Amino acid sequence: MHGDQDKPVELRTARLLLRPFELSDVDDVRAYASDPEVARFRPLPDPYTRQDALDFVIRQMRTDWSRCAEFAITFGPRAIGGLSLQLNPEHETAELGYLLGRRWWGQGLATEAARAVVDWGFRHFRLHKVYARAHVDNTRSWRVMERLGMTREGVLRGHWKMRDEHVDLVYYAVFRDEWTLRADSCADPAAKKAQDGHV
Ligand SMILES: CC(C)(COP(=O)(O)OP(=O)(O)OC[C@H]1O[C@@H](n2cnc3c(N)ncnc32)[C@H](O)[C@@H]1OP(=O)(O)O)[C@@H](O)C(=O)NCCC(=O)NCCS
Repeated sequence: MHGDQDKPVELRTARLLLRPFELSDVDDVRAYASDPEVARFRPLPDPYTRQDALDFVIRQMRTDWSRCAEFAITFGPRAIGGLSLQLNPEHETAELGYLLGRRWWGQGLATEAARAVVDWGFRHFRLHKVYARAHVDNTRSWRVMERLGMTREGVLRGHWKMRDEHVDLVYYAVFRDEWTLRADSCADPAAKKAQDGHV
């Protein structure tokens, strides 16, 4: 998990460009992250101010990509969400996380972005397994995991404290060989066309 692989990259899908966050994304981030529906299952500041958005973008820009890849999801000129792949090199695993502005829900964009990042993760790092977790009631989120071909491995009881409540998380994962097999048999055109390059 070292060398050139530690540098930020850009990934293209059929409809999206996934790239590192930039300072010019601050207003877009504020616009989507200040929506209470988006924050329903995420511990985001409330109210979500422009300073919160600026702090977030600066944190993403400073990320060490050998530990955590942080992509802005961009659609045309706008940043519409974010996607992260947090690496656990000692276990050869990585955790996937994603968030999309509400007006872009229901179009398959989160799945399209996540598929490209998981594919990139398996190809560029010696990963054995990619996993994701979500609040058990966050159906939209775990449906993305299912569309990616992940398997529900179980429920982590009372695993997160959110707004003074201990909540259950569903846990999904996919192994490298399952991913490769699926990619070969389903041959998603968007994933196939995904290009990546160092920036
Ligand atoms: C989780 C989240 C990213 C899911 O977004 P989403 O739009 O539901 O997911 P997708 O982009 O995969 O879109 C799937 C929907 O698009 C539809 N769709 C349309 N075209 C599609 C396509 N080409 N491919 C796949 N789905 C498509 C699907 O049928 C599905 O619709 P449905 O919701 O009516 O069943 C979004 O709800 C979100 O950002 N929530 C707030 C943050 C959050 O909770 N993040 C997860 C924390 S663990």
